[in-house]
Amino acid sequence: MEEAQTVARRGAAAAPPVPVPYPDVEGADLVRTSTGLREFDRVLGGGLVPGGVVLVGGEPGVGKSTLLLQSASSLAEAGRSVLYASGEESPAQLRLRGGRLGVRSANLLVLAETDVDGIAEAARRSRAEVLIVDSIQAVRCGELTSVPGSVGQVREAAARLVALAKSTGLPVLLVGHVTKDGAIAGPRTLEHVVDTVIQFEGDRHHAHRILRALKNRFGPSDEIGVFAMGDDGLRGIENPSEVFLAERAPGAPGSAVLATIEGSRPLLVEVQALVGERANGSPRRVTLGVDAGRVAMILAVLARRAGLDLAGRDVFVNVAGGLATTEPAADLAVALAAASSLTGRPLADRMTILGEIGLAGEIRSVARLDARLREATRLGFDAALVPAAAASASPSGIRLIPVRHLAEALEAGRVA
Ligand code: TYD
Ligand code: MG
Repeated sequence: MEEAQTVARRGAAAAPPVPVPYPDVEGADLVRTSTGLREFDRVLGGGLVPGGVVLVGGEPGVGKSTLLLQSASSLAEAGRSVLYASGEESPAQLRLRGGRLGVRSANLLVLAETDVDGIAEAARRSRAEVLIVDSIQAVRCGELTSVPGSVGQVREAAARLVALAKSTGLPVLLVGHVTKDGAIAGPRTLEHVVDTVIQFEGDRHHAHRILRALKNRFGPSDEIGVFAMGDDGLRGIENPSEVFLAERAPGAPGSAVLATIEGSRPLLVEVQALVGERANGSPRRVTLGVDAGRVAMILAVLARRAGLDLAGRDVFVNVAGGLATTEPAADLAVALAAASSLTGRPLADRMTILGEIGLAGEIRSVARLDARLREATRLGFDAALVPAAAASASPSGIRLIPVRHLAEALEAGRVA
């Protein structure tokens, strides 16, 4: 019956759907609105898009409200009307923070409201051009009886804000708290509802923060933006390598510099290792910023394939500055840092180390070697230990030291 109706309707409306040759497909020319923060724009893929819903997740205290208030302020200064619905902090508290950040534009409207329909109504009535909701966990739907922050409330509230965005073209930014395990009724349950999921990372003990796109319907995913948190808010860092290497102690054993790729950006970071004396009992293997299983494998290969005396020794591996890398390309830097700590011989100061290690001790090639080498060269590095297979392309300004095997790499790095 229904089908018959559909057919009839189609018949009445004449033409059946017509496929379009690819070159004639009209591209969606997205008009993007800059957030006023270059690093934020980078992660979004160039700025906010009409009707796009962005979830900014992160642990409490990482700086989500600061980021969004700064961005709101820049947008307002640029003449856009921004509605900041604050369910976590009172307008007075927001004002206190805003004072530190130099917020002053009257285009920034502050709303102390936690009812989702109230927020949507205020956005419509005030003709907001950007809506910020801080946080989605604090918002509730009037007719639901569950407590704010519960999965049901968070989902329904987000769904209504997404509907608002889609029907009006209003870009919406949602703040979502995540705990360390990411489990609490938070962003995880919303990931498929929103267009873009951005995670704000960093710990209170380090000044820098990393903004990372985990999902992006309107831009690249896994792009990063780097900020430093100061007394007057977040400042974008255009040259993150310099920051991550700034406090390196040259000539210290156990320190290796790796050129990693974060999103589309090559980034130089320091991998540190500390190998302890031999002790009784089971040795401790602690890693920060690198995968513990990966490090265990590297240490096993070092012992078995390169004869390093690691049995019974504690090993600590740390990526300095609180950055985390999951890249296999970091293997060789971890290995050489450990060997350097064990032997007490420092690696060459201006040398970067790149390569994945296989179980036979072979050094395997890494993706985007050129980009990594260019970044190293730009920062004044003059040598690079690289997988032999990839060493054909030689950018000027940096001496390549090709290695095939881990033992060969230890020799070349003078930490054998
Ligand atoms: P906040 O944005 O409130 O974090 P979130 O919204 O993610 O919970 O900020 C967190 C921390 O940042 C807070 O401990 C104070 C600090 N901070 C600064 O160091 N400088 C500043 O200018 C501001 C506004 C905050
Ligand atoms: Mg906050």
